[in-house]
Amino acid sequence: MAEQASVNRIAVLVSGGGSNLQSIIDKVHESDIAAEICCVISNRKEVYALERARKANISAVVVESRIYAERSLFEQALLGELKKQQPDIIVMAGFMRVLSAEFIAHYSGRILNIHPSLLPDFTGLHTHQRALAAGRKRHGCSVHFASAELDGGPLIMRAEVAVLDTDNEETLALRVLQQEHEIYPLCIQWLCEGKIKLRNNEVFYCNEKLLEPLTWQNEIDCK
Ligand code: GRF
Repeated sequence: MAEQASVNRIAVLVSGGGSNLQSIIDKVHESDIAAEICCVISNRKEVYALERARKANISAVVVESRIYAERSLFEQALLGELKKQQPDIIVMAGFMRVLSAEFIAHYSGRILNIHPSLLPDFTGLHTHQRALAAGRKRHGCSVHFASAELDGGPLIMRAEVAVLDTDNEETLALRVLQQEHEIYPLCIQWLCEGKIKLRNNEVFYCNEKLLEPLTWQNEIDCK
């Protein structure tokens, strides 16, 4: 990763609407994050995240996973695109593919993911529905270093929201997404600044090993 002096180049991997991408674009634009988004790469065509990139004059690329018979061929194509772009950091933002250990190894300690649950609970899909079905009173989102394990990898930060009796999947998802848009840019900024590091698969914050993931304090109160 580039030292403090040079600006970090961030590649954002997307698959859908790109609301997390937008929050990162906005924070970079407000120069809260000392970095530039060198490219947005989607594994699917015609997703709104690509439109968001174009509107922000960011290179929007499609490496369509469905045309590759095997994951290894898709990853080869993705690595080829990344080789051109030379990112310092890779940010998976609503990216719906599981990347192999071989791929991750190319960017160990420099590839982040965000997941809409309080990991390690509820890895995988339909997290809000599952949290409601389980009767959870707390739910939220997690930022972690990506690994080959689905929604696995060393945890950096989590943000919690209260689950309301009146919540359904949509209302809960919306409040969690608002928290995602807070913690993801912050974790990216801290990675760029060297405030968080991955060493021997453990997360260090300000050079102290994290025994527990950080918790985002500004939970949006349930009025
Ligand atoms: C978000 O909840 C994200 O955590 C999950 O997909 C949802 C949509 O993300 N992976 P985005 O709006 O495409 O950033």
